Amino acid sequence: MKKILLVFGTRPEAIKMAPLVNKFKEYPDDFRTIVRVTGQHRQMLDSVLKLFDIVPDYDLDIMKAGQDLFDITSRVLLGMRDVLDETCPDVVFVHGDTTTSTAAALAAFYHQVPVAHVEAGLRTYNIYSPWPEEMNRQITGRIATWHLSPTERSKENLLKEKVDERSISVTGNTVIDALQWVNAKIHSEPEIATQLANELYEFGYDVGRLNGDRRLVLITGHRRENFGEGFLNICQAIKALSEKYPEVDFVYPMHLNPNVRNPIYETFGDVKNTGSKGNQHNIFFIEPLDYLPFVYLMGKSYLLLSDSGGVQEEAPGLGKPVLVMRDTTERPEALEAGTVVLVGTDCQRIVEAVSHLIERSDLYNKMAQARNPYGDGKACERIVEYLKEHYDNE
Ligand code: UD1
Ligand code: UDP
Repeated sequence: MKKILLVFGTRPEAIKMAPLVNKFKEYPDDFRTIVRVTGQHRQMLDSVLKLFDIVPDYDLDIMKAGQDLFDITSRVLLGMRDVLDETCPDVVFVHGDTTTSTAAALAAFYHQVPVAHVEAGLRTYNIYSPWPEEMNRQITGRIATWHLSPTERSKENLLKEKVDERSISVTGNTVIDALQWVNAKIHSEPEIATQLANELYEFGYDVGRLNGDRRLVLITGHRRENFGEGFLNICQAIKALSEKYPEVDFVYPMHLNPNVRNPIYETFGDVKNTGSKGNQHNIFFIEPLDYLPFVYLMGKSYLLLSDSGGVQEEAPGLGKPVLVMRDTTERPEALEAGTVVLVGTDCQRIVEAVSHLIERSDLYNKMAQARNPYGDGKACERIVEYLKEHYDNE
């Protein structure tokens, strides 16, 4: 019996690690599965834990409003010391490129416990874009003993960095496992869609508006390198688009980070106090959605405008084009597959790119029909098999 410690702390890590936690738990004779959350995100993490029915064994609860990278790194590192002392795991699983992941990987290294890195090998090779994620994943990659890569492309990046091929396994991205599970839940009973529509109504958006010809542009944003001018430009673009296309709805579930919200308030006024209906008739600023209603709303949307990593992987699985408000991407597979386009954070460029997709059905259909390169929903199974094989061969 091997002890597996899975560590995560933010919304996207939770979404991508939850199906893996539940997969490991299907093998109680082979693995003792221990979950430790850092609470780098508090509310947005807890909603994912609830959805996937995961009760963490340890919770560091580190989040403070306005936390910086020093705060997160030092609290996770110190918190991990006690957990590692107490649990003595055989392997520590971390995910992707957050500061929770890198600090947890470093702590495992200090304890001389092998690290398994899920979503390994993504690269832009620009350490300031995305910042600090590019450096985070490079550091975690150097520490890791096992690299669970989502695609062949990410494996190639690791091979170029002289990582031993035997330590890499191409598994697909676990986000597709999560997405398929949630989608199956949404479509399992007709009442669930009704409940979700009601939930969204309470949040401030009535999906009934989309019954006719209205279309929905769903927006998310949170990247640190877009703070300040980038987010102000994004807001100006949304404003211009909402005026240009009164027949299109723009729905923006706002990330809880004040650096994301302040430019919205600066541009649109105090939308948090207007019943989340925004101050214009076709823009809706709402609270961040739980994963289930968010996936439901992605399904209802015409296109997504986002700087998110996870959304770039999920939306194509639902046949939805994504315009990515970034200058670089560590997800070239999606660019090559034609499911996403990089549009940066220049206001004019965003307006033009969205306008093209609204007005040109040929361009839209090409993007919407492209194939999702990120997996088949069996990534977690492959990861567990890889670990089992590894230990069987020991
Ligand atoms: C973090 C990750 C980023 C990941 C993103 C996903 C780092 C450095 N950044 O960025 O890689 O892509 O999460 O969303 O690891 N807040 C709340 N409640 C929550 C979550 C956030 O109030 O549930 C607010 C707090 O004021 C917090 C702030 O948001 O201080 C920023 O959170 P933080 O985790 O530092 O940065 P993110 O931008 O969320
Ligand atoms: N998401 C969500 N609710 C929202 C917005 C996003 O559940 O209101 C999900 C989304 O489906 C994706 C993940 O959050 O799985 C992406 O998180 P984020 O964009 O914060 O982080 P990133 O993926 O860029 O690291």
